[in-house]
Amino acid sequence: MSREMMLVVSLLLQLLAVTSLLSQRQSLRNLRIPAITNIQGWLPGLKADGDANQLPTIAIVASYDTFGAAPALSVGSDSNGSGIVALLEIARLFSLLYSNPKTRGRYNILFGLTSGGPYNYNGTHKWLRSFDQRLRESVDYAICLNSIGSWDNELWLHVSKPPENAYIKQIFEGFSNVAEELGLKVGLKHKKINISNPRVAWEHEQFSRLRVTAATLSELSAAPELLESTGGLSDSRHFVNEAAIIRSVKLVAESLARHIYDHQGKDIQIFADNSILAVNPSYIRSWLDLLSQTPRVAPFFSKTDPFVMALKKELADHTVEVNVQHEVLDGMFTFYDSTKAQLNIYQVASVTFDLLLLLVLGSYLIVLFSFLVITTRGLDDLISLFRRPHSRKVKTA
Ligand SMILES: *[C@@H]1O[C@H](CO)[C@@H](O)[C@H](O)[C@H]1NC(C)=O
Ligand SMILES: *[C@@H]1O[C@H](CO)[C@@H](O)[C@H](O)[C@H]1NC(C)=O
Ligand SMILES: *[C@@H]1O[C@H](CO)[C@@H](O)[C@H](O)[C@H]1NC(C)=O
Repeated sequence: MSREMMLVVSLLLQLLAVTSLLSQRQSLRNLRIPAITNIQGWLPGLKADGDANQLPTIAIVASYDTFGAAPALSVGSDSNGSGIVALLEIARLFSLLYSNPKTRGRYNILFGLTSGGPYNYNGTHKWLRSFDQRLRESVDYAICLNSIGSWDNELWLHVSKPPENAYIKQIFEGFSNVAEELGLKVGLKHKKINISNPRVAWEHEQFSRLRVTAATLSELSAAPELLESTGGLSDSRHFVNEAAIIRSVKLVAESLARHIYDHQGKDIQIFADNSILAVNPSYIRSWLDLLSQTPRVAPFFSKTDPFVMALKKELADHTVEVNVQHEVLDGMFTFYDSTKAQLNIYQVASVTFDLLLLLVLGSYLIVLFSFLVITTRGLDDLISLFRRPHSRKVKTA
């Protein structure tokens, strides 16, 4: 009797160990809390003497973790980080202008590297919500850069406000004038936002939802449909070409400079080739190289990820008050279909592992049980346990 008790107790102990092991694995998995990390930097403008008013701000924004948008990539967006590279180069160029009081503009320039792009631009949403009222109201307009690395001669300016809107008109005319001089073309695409639907197609729509004038510059004439394809983590990125990024940088920098220095409609190239302010191809190339070697699935970036640190350091080289915003990406399991596809892979992998573990432990328990039965009651008892009907036959015979 006491032997059987021992057997039961030891089995119970084994079971307890198994369950605690499994629950430990469970909590380990949950430790991977998805988060978003936005990085921002400032180029403060020069205030006129005695001017108490806040200077207007122009924001330049790019989402850096497009790598995670596998479905978007498979429909043909080049997201080798063309937007980030362009943004960093624009920051470098304007930091040269702003380092001299004579050429420092009367506009603040705010640079934002946002994450969570594939998740409905949730990083942008969080970043904007972190602005105080004063800052939000000071934003003259925001230009978001998205897929500008493999176009030939036409880019699109996507806006949510109607083309007749005075601000939109001004921004668009600024861009199309410069484009014309450079032998390029910029088209305008208007798509109203639906306030009651939280899903956005373009990054600038997160600004529009907060009534901040904004536009997205992109070689794509329509937003990639994030929900359409769930074809896993395909990596079929288009080849990004350096020349296209250089053209984009020129177009954006020149248009911004004309707005900032009020040179609208004048044919003066500020960022002319062969000047100190020329776009630097080797700078662009080195960043493209780094980006094409760095998987950028941001929800699993920590605040101190080397890639995040590199971006932060680079921005800090050109701008001031560089700030990293790190927040939990909430609601992703229920809200983000494109994320789910990606997370399923994690889940599936873990579940298979759990099942395997269970199988191994189960077999171990059976062997242990058999062993204990054999040692306490002998082999015959064990066999009779598994072959009861047969053994009865043997007995009657
Ligand atoms: C994004 O993040 C916010 C929290 O900042 C959350 O409430 C919201 O549901 C998320 N989803 C969308 C659609 O932006
Ligand atoms: C706006 O979004 C809501 C919620 O998704 C939807 O019911 C409505 O039909 C949309 N309106 C328009 C004009 O698309
Ligand atoms: C972009 O990604 C593609 C595919 O991974 C790669 O072949 C290409 O070299 C990348 N482009 C650049 C400029 O890094």
